[in-house]
Amino acid sequence: MTASDAITIEQAAKRYGGLQAIAPMSLRIKKGEVVALIGPSGAGKSTLLNMLAAIELPDTGTILLDEKTTSLYRNPKDLAKKAGIIRQQFDLVGPLPVIHNVLAGKLADWGFWKSLWSFIFPQEKQAAMKALERVGLSDKIYDRTARLSGGEQQRVALARLLVQNPEVILADEPVSSLDPARAKDIIQILVSLAKSENKTLVASLHSLDLAKMHFDRVIALRDGQIFFDRKSDTITTEDLTQLYQLTEQKQNAT
Ligand SMILES: Nc1ncnc2c1ncn2[C@@H]1O[C@H](COP(=O)(O)OP(=O)(O)O)[C@@H](O)[C@H]1O
Ligand SMILES: [Mg+2]
Repeated sequence: MTASDAITIEQAAKRYGGLQAIAPMSLRIKKGEVVALIGPSGAGKSTLLNMLAAIELPDTGTILLDEKTTSLYRNPKDLAKKAGIIRQQFDLVGPLPVIHNVLAGKLADWGFWKSLWSFIFPQEKQAAMKALERVGLSDKIYDRTARLSGGEQQRVALARLLVQNPEVILADEPVSSLDPARAKDIIQILVSLAKSENKTLVASLHSLDLAKMHFDRVIALRDGQIFFDRKSDTITTEDLTQLYQLTEQKQNAT
């Protein structure tokens, strides 16, 4: 590993019972890289992202975030500064106004009492306002979050991530519940935020077009292994056909 690596995976593997979700895998991602993770469903994308977020630990091997093994991030505050994850189910609190959800990005930083206080008198409103401006939602700051559209809610989740301000942004199929126009919009915001702030971004995606169009590097997983790891402009239709081809075993099973 070198100091320029944001993520180093060394022979990391993960099993669920008899199922090898991630086979021993090694991989490096440099600081500031913008990487798409693709592959058929069940390939191990979420498992890998959860391990990068230190939500799951590998059974064997190591995962380093900025030179420190994920299992050593005992303090949630330290971890929140390193890596933040956003998902398809936005885990926002629907009945609360937008600003509270955005400021939840500060939870690890503030501790419980200050966070609780922020529900009565929002602290650091400026920070929330700035984040909402960057995702184009500053006019919705006091709206009930549940009233917003799917795309707007995902923007709130992005604003929350901006307030959390982690070095590595992880996104697990962040746009799979949105229509194609909205999906493109969110990916554009996500990638441009990552690039302008020099953050490392790893996002799993269903859409190969979005992966090729907006990301520099594409890592394809299949059966818990790296199927290919390429610059996005070198990926061919043939690569993708092979990646998504059903294996004989699976074909027989269906
Ligand atoms: N908590 C879990 N318990 C048991 N099996 C799991 C769990 N999470 C994932 N798996 C299995 O691990 C494999 C990889 O899953 P996942 O990482 O979710 O793939 P992807 O995100 O690429 O669809 C799948 O076969 C899935 O069923
Ligand atoms: Mg998944």
